[in-house]
Amino acid sequence: DKGVYPYYMLKEVDEQAIVARTLSQYYFDDNGQVINIDQSIIDRIKQADRLYIVAAGTSYHAGLVGKRYFEQWTGKPTEVHISSEFAYDQPLLSKKPFFIFLSQSGETADSREVLDNVVKQGYPSLTMANVLNSTLTREADFALPLLAGPEIAVASTKAYTAQVIVEAILAHAIGDSGLDLKHELAKVAVEMQVITDQKDQFKVIAEDALHDRHSAFYIGRGLDAAVAVESALKLKEISYVQTEGFAAGELKHGTISLIEDGTPVFALLTQSKTAGLVRGEISQVAARGANTIVIASQSLAKPGDAYLLPDVNELLMPLLAVIPTQLIAYYATLDRGLDVDRPRNLAKSVTVQ
Ligand code: M6R
Repeated sequence: DKGVYPYYMLKEVDEQAIVARTLSQYYFDDNGQVINIDQSIIDRIKQADRLYIVAAGTSYHAGLVGKRYFEQWTGKPTEVHISSEFAYDQPLLSKKPFFIFLSQSGETADSREVLDNVVKQGYPSLTMANVLNSTLTREADFALPLLAGPEIAVASTKAYTAQVIVEAILAHAIGDSGLDLKHELAKVAVEMQVITDQKDQFKVIAEDALHDRHSAFYIGRGLDAAVAVESALKLKEISYVQTEGFAAGELKHGTISLIEDGTPVFALLTQSKTAGLVRGEISQVAARGANTIVIASQSLAKPGDAYLLPDVNELLMPLLAVIPTQLIAYYATLDRGLDVDRPRNLAKSVTVQ
């Protein structure tokens, strides 16, 4: 039920704060220790020499963020793969691979095909899915629930943030993040609420930047590049504005030639290590006429930035940075008079290959 909301997407964007809070309560005890992850999962992953995250669409993008947690906190090399590619072109695997499937529905055919192959080859697997008792959760050796509640809108929002959170919790349980993760996630939940309470700002940004536009860009470096591709998918999927999301440093290798007067370029700036470089890239596109819209964390902000994100631990900033971009996609679509929840040519769950 949509309740007071005009569209499920808006309701689901708002629910992200609740989901973050729920996950920090479900997976941790009062002392901040991870519970509800079987020791057998942790032991199996510890035995692996490499992790393979396999997923499609937005779930794949959540994998790009999770890679950082697994590599940094567990020391395990982690590869992220698009399931439709992996299914027919399995890369050379390490000696002891462990597979992690990410999926909202647990029914995505491309990912199921890969899991089938993985099971046949005798490799261990875990599915993180939102729909419990779905095919991917039943057919993998292990499963972890995303607990995001039903996601109805075709555009995935709260399942993405739940996936990123559960990846962080799992990586923390296997290795050590050096963080009081329960506390950090509780902080994220509070700040998510702060952002979703500022919807009017995103409505203005979306209408100003995208009203008459047919193309747009999202750029960032590192974790912001991962969020940029997700943000671009969200915007193009529902508003039909052709949007590219990519690593900001790649601009000068070709794409900058597409920048014209007024081309909207959304820049995500939450990582201190690369903030200076991204500022440079923002200036380069601005000099060629782009309308630059900077979404920066408060600690890295400069006058003229369009929106300031509250600061949480930098590794967790993707959880906050994605929310303005979901809302920009939502309001740009509304502004075009389109059905936000049901974009053309798409199904919620893609059960054909
Ligand atoms: O159910 P899944 O997470 O496996 O679905 C994967 C993609 O089909 C899905 O994320 C799709 O990209 C969304 N519509 C994006 O908003």
